Amino acid sequence: MSSRKGILLAGGTGSRLYPVTQAVSKQLLPVYDKPMIYYPLTVLMLAGIREIAIITTPEDQVQFKRLLGDGSQLGLDFVYIVQEKPEGLAQAYLLAEDFLKGVPSAMVLGDNIFFGHGLPELLARAGSKIDGGTVFGYRVADPERYGVIGFDENGRALSIIEKPEKPPSNYAVTGLYFLDGTAAERARTVRPSGRGELEITGVLDTYLAEKSLDVELMGRGSAWLDTGTHSSLLDAGNFVRTLEERQGMMVGSPEEVAYLAGWISETELAQRAEMFGKGAYGNALRELLR
Ligand code: TTP
Repeated sequence: MSSRKGILLAGGTGSRLYPVTQAVSKQLLPVYDKPMIYYPLTVLMLAGIREIAIITTPEDQVQFKRLLGDGSQLGLDFVYIVQEKPEGLAQAYLLAEDFLKGVPSAMVLGDNIFFGHGLPELLARAGSKIDGGTVFGYRVADPERYGVIGFDENGRALSIIEKPEKPPSNYAVTGLYFLDGTAAERARTVRPSGRGELEITGVLDTYLAEKSLDVELMGRGSAWLDTGTHSSLLDAGNFVRTLEERQGMMVGSPEEVAYLAGWISETELAQRAEMFGKGAYGNALRELLR
């Protein structure tokens, strides 16, 4: 079992999805056949992480608990933490400081979807690094919208710039951060930015200054999908539907990952399938048991 702990950051306002997100957290909305949060949760599980803090707004926590419980049904251990206001990604490390107790962590944003051949190997590589940090770069057509990585001539990350007018590359930093046990300490040194948030780049900069931040590039055969707007949410749903229907395999099923990892037994998987009843998701779990 990995001693690295996970943070699933699922607060925020989701204002770009109003009015849909006026009464429901963005991360609980469906991406085709499952709630959005299943996808990033599965990424942490694929990294071998079983102790996970789920950070939500105060209002939404009860619904996340209804969906995900204490994690034992998946062989996991969940802790719930409230973020009173969406004051930035780096704040998650401060809120989770007592939970982390100085061990290395992997944080994933609750609205990020990753898919691709070689993902488990990439996660394993990042997970095995005890000191320093790893972020993942993904080539995008419109880097101005993201945190963009500047590289030196050897391909090492030099800088990460939030929403640059003149992007130094086409590589955006995705919402998945593997950091060592000092992340919370570093987050304490970050001051609010112009938009009043504790920016994750503030934490990453401290690693860059020490040359201890690795950037793993996700290749052409992988997908990093955005779900923050109405059309990107629909596109992500269609992407998952296309893959699942074509291959007859699930994308982002925590039950499947838990079962294949041996964290839940056949009987426990069968019970989950039974609980989900006759729908497509339950059927897909039953298919796994055949
Ligand atoms: P964003 O997409 O930057 O913000 P948002 O989800 O509130 O949406 P909008 O811009 O439409 O208002 O957030 C990225 C992810 O990080 C998302 O899963 C929400 C989460 N988040 C928090 O949990 N707390 C925060 O303080 C911030 C800024 C984001």
